[in-house]
Amino acid sequence: MNILMISGSRNLEGQTAQAAGTLLEGASAVGIEGEMIFLPQLIIERCRQCDDDGWGVCSKEGRCIIDDDFASIFQKIKEADAVVVATPVYFGDLSESLRAFTDRLRRICFKGGGSKEIGDKPAIGICVAGGRGFGASECCFHLDKVLRICGFNVIDMIPARRQNLDTKLPHLRLIGKGLVTK
Ligand SMILES: Cc1cc2nc3c(=O)[nH]c(=O)nc-3n(C[C@H](O)[C@H](O)[C@H](O)COP(=O)(O)O)c2cc1C
Repeated sequence: MNILMISGSRNLEGQTAQAAGTLLEGASAVGIEGEMIFLPQLIIERCRQCDDDGWGVCSKEGRCIIDDDFASIFQKIKEADAVVVATPVYFGDLSESLRAFTDRLRRICFKGGGSKEIGDKPAIGICVAGGRGFGASECCFHLDKVLRICGFNVIDMIPARRQNLDTKLPHLRLIGKGLVTK
């Protein structure tokens, strides 16, 4: 079994990475392999809203015409047994890099062939409000919604804030361990 972790944080050692990394540690303890991707390191253009009606090739063929790192991440999602999507909470919402990615992912999955390939793949969301600590559950709502539109089977959504991150870490480790049975 292997997990793909997609992070919308640019901080490789920040709070989001710590939360997601702890879940992966739990998974690793039971023999699950994991790979981490940090979206801000990659080139993910925003959706071009192709065609006058706003629907492009994505809606018909389940692929995006933009030649950047998007397609390779989608390939990794298809190859993974489960996906963990982690984001720092910005304005009670997803980070911009994750939003750009999910904006395009939902398009190729919604009408095109993509969702068949994602086909109920288990997904877990982690939203870390690392500032004043507000907006983590609101962010979870947005992340849960977009992942479900993409066709994922969202099995858990974990809000965390700077003030309670330490208490959430053991829980995240257990969730990682529990993935083996999913
Ligand atoms: C543009 C922006 C908006 C932010 N909005 C919030 C917020 O709504 N609530 C909050 O608690 N923290 C907010 N923060 C703080 C981030 O959540 C915090 O820096 C993040 O968790 C750090 O994660 P990282 O260590 O992975 O970078 C914001 C930070 C930025 C840069």
